[in-house]
Amino acid sequence: MKKEFDKFPEAFAGQELYGFSWLEHTAAVPSPLVVVTGYKSNGKPNATMQSWCTFTGEEGYHCIFSSVHKSGHMYRSLKETGCCVVNFPSADILDKCMDTIKNNGFDTDEITASGLTVEPSCRVNAPRIKECFLNMDCELEWEHDLSEDGTHATICLKVTGISMDDRRYNDGDLGRYGETGYLYNIHSPRNPETGDNFDTYAGILSKLMKF
Ligand SMILES: Cc1cc2nc3c(=O)[nH]c(=O)nc-3n(C[C@H](O)[C@H](O)[C@H](O)COP(=O)(O)O)c2cc1C
Repeated sequence: MKKEFDKFPEAFAGQELYGFSWLEHTAAVPSPLVVVTGYKSNGKPNATMQSWCTFTGEEGYHCIFSSVHKSGHMYRSLKETGCCVVNFPSADILDKCMDTIKNNGFDTDEITASGLTVEPSCRVNAPRIKECFLNMDCELEWEHDLSEDGTHATICLKVTGISMDDRRYNDGDLGRYGETGYLYNIHSPRNPETGDNFDTYAGILSKLMKF
């Protein structure tokens, strides 16, 4: 039976939502897991785990991050350099990518400190992560404040070019999906009737049917 939800569920009372809407936890729509890299103002490579993003375009190809915290290095680096790289990790290096959150000092090369390799992008003034199977070179197009308090911004990037592992765009080899391909953020799904709170997972995508 389909049920209607438009008010904060009683079952979530007292639960820590970490700034997310109860609707986020109820719908729990998965989105791609990526690492955004750029240079900090001291020239050190920055790396920021991001999700809640989408990729599409009318004229060209764009990446839109729905909610970027303005106090972080990623936002500052984007404002200063006007560019970044969006890196796509596969499951074998996800733990290292997650380590970039711990290695978040201003004076730290966050990529190297997390056991990953820095490579310069060939199109924009930003570092990229060698071990990621896809790197998208991006330029900042526009930003829009998401809330009146101005803590988070929706960011639109124009993709100027990509570097991609030939084993991933070859469907007969590793391919883009399944256990060696794109990762998705399955973020803390909750049951709005019981309040049950399920773990956050990295997910993969498998092909189901032709359409
Ligand atoms: C899976 C995952 C997704 C994340 N997505 C976002 C996001 O969409 N927006 C955001 O502001 N922070 C997000 N974060 C948190 C940042 O990665 C974290 O605050 C990081 O330390 C910020 O780094 P920076 O200061 O180098 O930008 C995410 C973290 C994880 C683990």
